[in-house]
Amino acid sequence: MLEKYTSVCGRFTQRSKNDNCSSLTAPDTGAVRDDKMPGGPTISGRSYAHARIWRMSKQVISPGGTVDGVVELPGDKSISHRYAILAALAEGRSEISNYASAADCRSTLECLRRLGAEIESANGVVRIAGRGLDGLKEPRRALDAENSGSTMRMLAGVLAGQTFRSTLTGDASLRKRPMRRVIDPLRQMGAEIHGDDGDRAPLEIRGGKLRAIDYTPPIPSAQVKSAVLLAGLYGDGATTVRESICTRDHTELALREFGATVEARRGEVRIEPRPKLVARQMTVPGDLSAAVFLISAALILPESALVLHNVGLNPTRARVLDFLISIGAPIRLPVVQLRDGELVGDISVQHAPLVGGKVTGGQAAEMIDELPMLAALGPFTEQGIEIRDARELRVKESDRIATLAAGLRQIGGHVEEFSDGLRVEGRSAGKLRGATVDPEGDHRIAMALAVAALGAEGDTVVRDADCAAVSFPEFFATLKRLRGAA
Ligand code: S3P
Repeated sequence: MLEKYTSVCGRFTQRSKNDNCSSLTAPDTGAVRDDKMPGGPTISGRSYAHARIWRMSKQVISPGGTVDGVVELPGDKSISHRYAILAALAEGRSEISNYASAADCRSTLECLRRLGAEIESANGVVRIAGRGLDGLKEPRRALDAENSGSTMRMLAGVLAGQTFRSTLTGDASLRKRPMRRVIDPLRQMGAEIHGDDGDRAPLEIRGGKLRAIDYTPPIPSAQVKSAVLLAGLYGDGATTVRESICTRDHTELALREFGATVEARRGEVRIEPRPKLVARQMTVPGDLSAAVFLISAALILPESALVLHNVGLNPTRARVLDFLISIGAPIRLPVVQLRDGELVGDISVQHAPLVGGKVTGGQAAEMIDELPMLAALGPFTEQGIEIRDARELRVKESDRIATLAAGLRQIGGHVEEFSDGLRVEGRSAGKLRGATVDPEGDHRIAMALAVAALGAEGDTVVRDADCAAVSFPEFFATLKRLRGAA
């Protein structure tokens, strides 16, 4: 069964087309590994939000050189949130290895602590004493999701099932992001939930026993799907979520691992209510969305060669590898295995000339977190990169279309902006040249611009570079090490 994943990534495309939305049918090998987290976080203090207020960090990127070596990525951000939340709702003591070092995932742990879960965290291993489905306690203060949309939207689903009152808030960026997408279905389920202007955090939630619903989110969103499925744990019957574009299925997989009954067919996920969730020992795969920044550095810098170990290759996340291969990237997956319900493997990549290409339709949702890096590869391709059907980028941690277009133009990129995407011209439009760029506090923009700057003429200053810690605190240190400059 696993053979079909082992050599080329084109297989993922085939699978995604045939088996629209599910990797739930894969067998469980039950393997557990005890990894250590690579590197240490590069910022100190409890949260990136504090660093952001000071806006004091910057990174100077000198171009050229190669990236070469072997990397172990920090744990996947999406999966870490889900394991932590389910561990808190399970009965017994769970142990999560290679838990993400991302500041966003610390926000989730902090919220769960305030809800009464006992959590120990050291060296990338998080131990959570679960409180059972009905054991969370009323928090004394607002729960602060800081910069993390996943924390806020998924916890909204859990809190909708609690009889107590709670408030979810976040930093200035998160308080601007749309929340009606979770408010609407959770209200349909019977929760009382109010947001500022009906659409923004802080969210005031009072829940209880919920009605099961059959819900089709108006936009493809794994966070919305997850919120409804988590609320479905407290339903009065089976809750169904339907989607025509397949979004990441980590919640479905994790729910199953913790003992819930979840059925997934083409575009449809159904969860039975009130399972007994059982504590587990799980290992989080390396973060593929973080890996894409290093893969792109190798593609840009001549003579580079990287091997990335133990990276999550869930087919609902790996479309980006298909796309990179389709534009000329020599990517191989020499080792792939199934662990705790998730595909995990090694990725090898070398420098190669890139043709360029276009991302449209459902692909945009499938690669939503990788789009900033793909766009920033544009100037290193023959035909440029065009991204359309990606309006969602405008409501991420920043307006990613505008922030990216401004940053790329600052370093000499030729960019056309559309309401739903952007087009970045290829090599013939001229070489990038170093300048000062401002990622507007958006982690993925900071990393995408830093990688593009590797191929510019002259140094680039990335302002407020600490924001990378939201998803990949070790990014700048890892890049330095791979360039032989640590
Ligand atoms: C995530 C889903 C995506 C993604 C985010 C993480 C998740 O958001 O952009 O970084 O973990 O479910 P949407 O589902 O809102 O598109």
